[in-house]
Amino acid sequence: MWGKHSWAILFAFALAPLGIGQTAKDLKLETGEEIFQATCAGCHGPDGKGQAQHILGFEPPATFPDFTDCSGSSRESDQQWSAVIHRGGTARAFSTIMPSFGPKENPALTDEEIQRVIKYVRTFCDEEKQKWPSGDFNVPRPMYTEKAFPEDEQVFMNQVNLSGGAGYTANYILEKRFGAITNMEFRFRGNFLKQPTPGQPQGLWQGAMGDTTVEYKRSILVNNRTKSLIGWGSEILVPTGNHNVGGTGAWELEQFLTYTQILPKRFYFLQQVGAEGPFKRHDDPIQAYARTTFGRTFLADRGFGRAISFASEFITTRNFASRQNWTLSIVPQAQITVSQRQHMRLGIGYNIPVIKGPPNPGIIINPVNSQQFSFYWLWDHFDGGFFEGWKSR
Ligand code: HEC
Repeated sequence: MWGKHSWAILFAFALAPLGIGQTAKDLKLETGEEIFQATCAGCHGPDGKGQAQHILGFEPPATFPDFTDCSGSSRESDQQWSAVIHRGGTARAFSTIMPSFGPKENPALTDEEIQRVIKYVRTFCDEEKQKWPSGDFNVPRPMYTEKAFPEDEQVFMNQVNLSGGAGYTANYILEKRFGAITNMEFRFRGNFLKQPTPGQPQGLWQGAMGDTTVEYKRSILVNNRTKSLIGWGSEILVPTGNHNVGGTGAWELEQFLTYTQILPKRFYFLQQVGAEGPFKRHDDPIQAYARTTFGRTFLADRGFGRAISFASEFITTRNFASRQNWTLSIVPQAQITVSQRQHMRLGIGYNIPVIKGPPNPGIIINPVNSQQFSFYWLWDHFDGGFFEGWKSR
């Protein structure tokens, strides 16, 4: 029922109480609140919950936001919102009913005014406001460093060994968020290794299910003002894998702390420190690790288009056993968003061991210090279905 330009009619409708044709410029709207009440409330409601449907005059899409719902509004980054307000719903493959307020030719609102109105829209989620980490913390997923942000996503991660014996690991990772600060991660693996066997000294490919991990993570320090987030996590490894094909063969426990810091100019910094090892006394030693990621995101199309991020990850480990040393790997990597909604992302990375240590078969991440090529497909399933949001309508 709504054609491509219906938004224009609706925009006029939204401004009707002010006299059609007037824009923020004419009205001398100052604060974010004034701008919102004059230009947005017609559709989004004076309280941000969405205007009552009989006043609205259009059928709201299922994704029509209720800005007072922290679970929906806190996780969207300022940049996502800025793109939608500047360019309209089409900027993120949302409904075209959401008008654009900042087209280059004839902007209804200036960049500055859009920043102010975003700040105001953020105030609608006031339910324990400080508790909900800002969506800005949801930085591009590094290959190994765990983000502090409680994610809702599914990742298909692949690791290919390029030295030290052929091998391939496929990982399916489900991240599920619960409330403001908690999430659980379930990770299933499939291992494929080429190993010498008695009759086949050249090696034979073998495949088997790998170990399964279940992780609980929660934010323990949220500061949306300084853009700092600290999380604590605990993970249990269930030895569902075949010990001859990459399985650790023992129940293991991992504990870690992780810190995400958003820096100016879309730089970001992540630091994770932790240790993992078998529950019971075992031949495989406990391993401590530190993973550091430093990266930067670039945005195409004046900041409203695709996001491309480049990062370097530094991983150091040490096994707690005699005659061990600290190891160091460097993992240059990149991530790119592939859907208009920005909810589908591709990541690639290359793990280069710089200082090698003795192998630790109890560790599932690169136990033998091989060069590894990693790539993943990430789906942020809260932002849209698998087949949704690919192209603007
Ligand atoms: C003509 C009605 C209308 C007006 C006026 C309007 N919006 Fe919207 N807005 C919508 C609709 C409809 C959607 C939902 C689009 C969808 O989910 O497909 C939306 C979505 C949004 C979103 C996206 C939320 C998300 O899920 O990421 C933001 C942010 C937003 N609007 C902010 C504003 C602001 C700020 C203003 C005023 C400057 C405004 N809107 C004016 C109709 C409107």
